Amino acid sequence: MISFSQRLQRLPGYPLAEIPAIKRRLLEAGVDVIDLGAGDNDTPPPSIAVDSMTAALRNPALSKYGFQQGLPEFRQAAARWIERRFGQRFDPFTEILPLIGSKEGLSHLPHAVIDPGDVAIVPEPGYQAYLGGALLAGAEPYVAPLRPENDFLLRLDQIPADVLRRAKIAFVNYPNNPTAAIAPAAYLERTVAICRTYGILLAYDNAYCELTFDQYRAPSIFETAGARDIAIEFFSLSKSYSMTGWRLGFAAGRPELIAALTRVKSYVDTGPFLAVQQAGALALDHSEELVAPIRSELQRRRDAAVTALQASGFTVDSPQAAMYLWVPLPPGTPSAVLARHALEEGGVIVLPGSAFGPAGEGFFRIALTVGVDRLRVAAERLGGALERVRRGPVATTA
Ligand SMILES: Cc1ncc(COP(=O)(O)O)c(C=O)c1O
Repeated sequence: MISFSQRLQRLPGYPLAEIPAIKRRLLEAGVDVIDLGAGDNDTPPPSIAVDSMTAALRNPALSKYGFQQGLPEFRQAAARWIERRFGQRFDPFTEILPLIGSKEGLSHLPHAVIDPGDVAIVPEPGYQAYLGGALLAGAEPYVAPLRPENDFLLRLDQIPADVLRRAKIAFVNYPNNPTAAIAPAAYLERTVAICRTYGILLAYDNAYCELTFDQYRAPSIFETAGARDIAIEFFSLSKSYSMTGWRLGFAAGRPELIAALTRVKSYVDTGPFLAVQQAGALALDHSEELVAPIRSELQRRRDAAVTALQASGFTVDSPQAAMYLWVPLPPGTPSAVLARHALEEGGVIVLPGSAFGPAGEGFFRIALTVGVDRLRVAAERLGGALERVRRGPVATTA
C-alpha cells in the first residue's frame, strides 16, 4: 500500500475542483447552467495576442525549452509595463521572473524561505494557492481572518508577536479575491513596516490590479517606501487579458528574492511556453487599450449584478475592484446550503464562503464572468434559492 504524506493529507479540498464534473452532469440533464464559480471571464483573449501566438507556433525556435530565462522580450515588456503603470524600475533580467501563471510562483515561493516549524501567514477567506503552497513546503500556516469590521484587510498588527517572530512569509492580496476589498496606502505602509521589523517576506499578490472601477487605481506594493527590501510582487495576464488558460504571469522584486524563486523553479519546471511569452509581451505593450474594454464591461456587470441581487433580497455593496461580489447572507444561513439550492434548483454555480474556510462562512462569492442579462437571471434564481433556504427545512450536509 502507498501511504500518502501528512503534507498531502493536510491539504483541504480545493473549492473549484468538483465544479467541472457537477457542471457536466447538469448540462447533460438539460439544465440551463450559469457558471459564476471560477474567476474566468467569458470575454475572448485579445486578437493581437491570438495572432502573435498563431505566428509563434510556426517558429520552431519558440517550441524549445524556455528555461527560467524565458523570452527576453517578455521580461523587457514586463519591466516596461511596471514602469509605465507604477513608475517603478526593475531590471528585466535580475528583477523580473516569468511564471506559468502567478499561481505557480505564489505556490512555489514558500519553498524558498520555509524551514520546519516556520510559520506562513495566509488570509482566510483567501486564494487557496497560498495555504496549499505553505503546507506543501512544510510550513505551519497561521490563518488570519479577513473580517468585514476590518474592511477585509489582513491585519498583521493583530497577530501575536511570537507568531510574527516565527513567520517567514505573509501572503497579502489586494484587490482581493474573494472579498473584492482594496488596500488603502496607510494599511500598506503598516504592513510593510511590520514585515521589515520581523524579517517577513511579503508575497504581494496583485493579480487584479488592472480590474478597477470608478477611477480607483490599484497601487503596486513597491509604491510603499521600504517595500523593496522585503516584498516580492506577483502579476498575472490571466484576468486583465482573458488569458487564463494560457498560463502566464510574472514576479518582480529585488535580485536576491527573484534569484531564490528562480532556483526553486529551476527544479520543478522549465518556464512558460515561449510562444505564450511572445504573445504576452505584445499584450503588455498594448495594455492600456486592451484592458480598458474589459474593465468597463466588468463595471457594467458589477452594477447590473449589485442592482439585481439587491432586488432579489440580498444586501451587497458595490466593490471598486476585482471581478467578484462577496455577498453577505442573512445570519444563520449556511453558505453551502444556499450554494446547493442555487445549483440544484437554479443551475447557478456560486462558491459558498465556507469553501474558503470557516472565516468565509456567512458569505458567498459570485464571479462576474457572464454578461449583464445572464447575471440578472442568475440573481433572480439566487433570490429564489434564498427564499427556499429561509423557508427551510434544510439539510446541512452540503
Ligand atoms: C488572488 C489570485 N491570485 C492569483 C491567481 C492566479 O492567477 P494565474 O495563475 O492565472 O495567474 C488567482 C486566480 O484566480 C487569484 O484569484
